[in-house]
Amino acid sequence: MLDKLERLPADTILGLAAACRADPNPDKVDLTLGVYMDEQGLCPVFDAVRQAQQALVAEERTKVYMPPAGDEMFNLGMQRLVLGNDSPALRDKRVGSVQAPGGCGALRIGAEIIRAAAPDARVWVSDPTWPVHFPLLGSSGLKFETYRYYDPVSHGVDFDAMVTDLEQAREGDVVLLHGCCHNPCGADLAIEQWGVIAAMAQRQGFLPFVDFAYQGLGDGLEEDAAGLRLIVERVPEVIIAASCSKNMGLYRERTGIALFVCRDEANAQALVSQALVAARRIYSMPPAHGALLAGRILASDTLSASWRSELDAMCRRINGLRTALRHKLEEKSGRDFGFIEREKGMFSFLGLSPEQALRLRSERSVYMLDSSRINVAGVNARNIDYLAQAVASVL
Ligand code: LMR
Repeated sequence: MLDKLERLPADTILGLAAACRADPNPDKVDLTLGVYMDEQGLCPVFDAVRQAQQALVAEERTKVYMPPAGDEMFNLGMQRLVLGNDSPALRDKRVGSVQAPGGCGALRIGAEIIRAAAPDARVWVSDPTWPVHFPLLGSSGLKFETYRYYDPVSHGVDFDAMVTDLEQAREGDVVLLHGCCHNPCGADLAIEQWGVIAAMAQRQGFLPFVDFAYQGLGDGLEEDAAGLRLIVERVPEVIIAASCSKNMGLYRERTGIALFVCRDEANAQALVSQALVAARRIYSMPPAHGALLAGRILASDTLSASWRSELDAMCRRINGLRTALRHKLEEKSGRDFGFIEREKGMFSFLGLSPEQALRLRSERSVYMLDSSRINVAGVNARNIDYLAQAVASVL
């Protein structure tokens, strides 16, 4: 029976990251996977995580299952981090949450809830979006529609086209929004544009579903949450999938949360009960380690201050790299790369064709996705000249 199964191609992003790791060229440049890398090309452990981990190891007395909804300290800390300390929805107890295995687990739990509430819901996703959205949400049975989002000519959001397309989203539909640091294009909505989308959701009755994986890596923790909080303030029902992979560096610990902003407390509790049944069907209980660390950090003034300042430094470094890369590319190619500086978070498209991206890989060992999405955090003082020269050579 099993021998009928054929070998499948590797995941596009993970497969390219593996190809880069296997490349013996000492000058290779890895701009594939969305992980933060420091000047040495390493993905660091936050000092606050290290400290929380030492305390946890010293105190931990059991490895018994986590409660199905996850660690309470983590859930409360994350609710405040995402929605804000003075969130009216939190004050009114209209928010339910369950800890999930990473942002991906949270997205999948959100999809299960949507499917239970509206089996025929169409999920509107931006064109382009993170490719994994399709299998992750689609495997729960949901169907997709796309809305135009990124304009490759202006290298920005084509907001008129987005609005035109979303005018067709109706009650019972879901609109997936990237809370900040759009993956893959880095072009984010301005706050006024979030206001327009919120008004459309109110008028047309669609449900906003916010993928919030990069809080703190665009302009800062509070700034990056502004659009999402505006939606939550104005729209009665919102689902959010948040992740601690990037902003706490807890990638391998699979630490995320699904938040359900509901019309009232009873409905929030109902959604948590639904999420627990969905989780039991898929993975039963969430993993412990990352959430126990994140919960401690968020609950401690000292650890929190240390984490925030380290995250802030990462955010500033990414923005500094954006400026440096823009200038370096302009110097080597004579073309305008100003958009790189305007975009946010880890990703930008360089505006190359798949053939050019392929040439960069095969001729220069510069690895980016075929769409020319780069992880800006993979740039450093040692590779920036080589990278810019290589890009200029294929233009
Ligand atoms: C990415 O887009 O590179 C990251 O979100 C990592 C992943 O799982 O694809």
